[in-house]
Amino acid sequence: MSIKGVIERYRGYLPVSEKTPVVTLCEGNTALIRAKVLEDKLKVDAEIFLKYEGQNPTGSFKDRGMTMAVSKAKEDGIEAVMCASTGNTSASASAYAVRAGMKSFVVIPEGNIALGKLAQALIHGACVIAIKGNFDKALSLVKEITDEYPVALVNSLNPFRIEGQKTGAFEICDDLGEAPGLHFIPVGNAGNITAYWKGYKEYKEAGKITNLPRMMGFQAAGAAPIVERRIIERPETIATAIRIGNPASWKKAEAARDESGGVIDKVTDEEIIEAYKILAGEVGVFVEPASAASVAGLIKLSKAGYFEEEGLKGKRKKIVCVLTGHGLKDPERAIKCVSSPEAVEAKKENILKLMGY
Ligand code: F0G
Repeated sequence: MSIKGVIERYRGYLPVSEKTPVVTLCEGNTALIRAKVLEDKLKVDAEIFLKYEGQNPTGSFKDRGMTMAVSKAKEDGIEAVMCASTGNTSASASAYAVRAGMKSFVVIPEGNIALGKLAQALIHGACVIAIKGNFDKALSLVKEITDEYPVALVNSLNPFRIEGQKTGAFEICDDLGEAPGLHFIPVGNAGNITAYWKGYKEYKEAGKITNLPRMMGFQAAGAAPIVERRIIERPETIATAIRIGNPASWKKAEAARDESGGVIDKVTDEEIIEAYKILAGEVGVFVEPASAASVAGLIKLSKAGYFEEEGLKGKRKKIVCVLTGHGLKDPERAIKCVSSPEAVEAKKENILKLMGY
């Protein structure tokens, strides 16, 4: 028997029944990695854990939501799914559509999705439509079309996506034996912060945990509508996954922040790249730039003295940063950040010289 996906693992917490055909690629069950290097580096008196969502079947957290959204669409007899995407949603939707025997249509902003994600959607046979416009425009068009045609919208506006994604919070609590004190997370369209907060609250209601974390969301500085309290018409960031100027779950993200006593703040591209390099080069975990926004936020707050001011007492001594997507999604960014090797004549002495011997 293969490993269970999130629907089987958390069936009692999800809106599924015996009649729901479970469309799964055995998503979830991702590692919670202790990052002692970060604890020492930041001199934070707490345990820091990384929830490595790049381990999901298509390489991002979207799979948790997609198993639910596609299963429910299948249950309703729908034959096609559609999304707007900065890349990961399209990769996930197209893979799960294959699994379900459905068609997939994905609308992406031309020139602004990472190569790996585009490759995924294409090889899974999605109908990929690139528009001259950004994610926000793509989403508004997709909403219109899915309202009018028998095609299921599988963006996080689809409530089943949020239901599936809340299982990330369950896994963290199951692994830690409690909820963390602080939960750091990148924010783009704001579905994931909404989902995690829902998951923590439901686990508390079910008596599985006694505390709730503060939700610490981070947007990219050039695409930070929630922080700046205005729609950003032309969002810009190297973290293309979160290059979003008008998030669909804006209000829900604010509610997660306010109910939990957390923050939604922004990090610059430089801070994102710094965290990205630390994760790969010092922790050993390769993520895509957007994913590094959670750790960039942690670094920013630690430099600003947040932890000294707030005091990390009791349950606040466990910190989780969600790493939303795999580094291989965006190989071009990695290559740009480091110097590539130049070829030498194939001689032992040349190799030894480069090895420093
Ligand atoms: N990290 C990654 C790697 C993402 O792909 C996304 C969103 C986020 C963080 C932000 O999550 O939108 O729930 O706040 N990607 C979407 C997409 C927009 O189309 O793949 P969010």
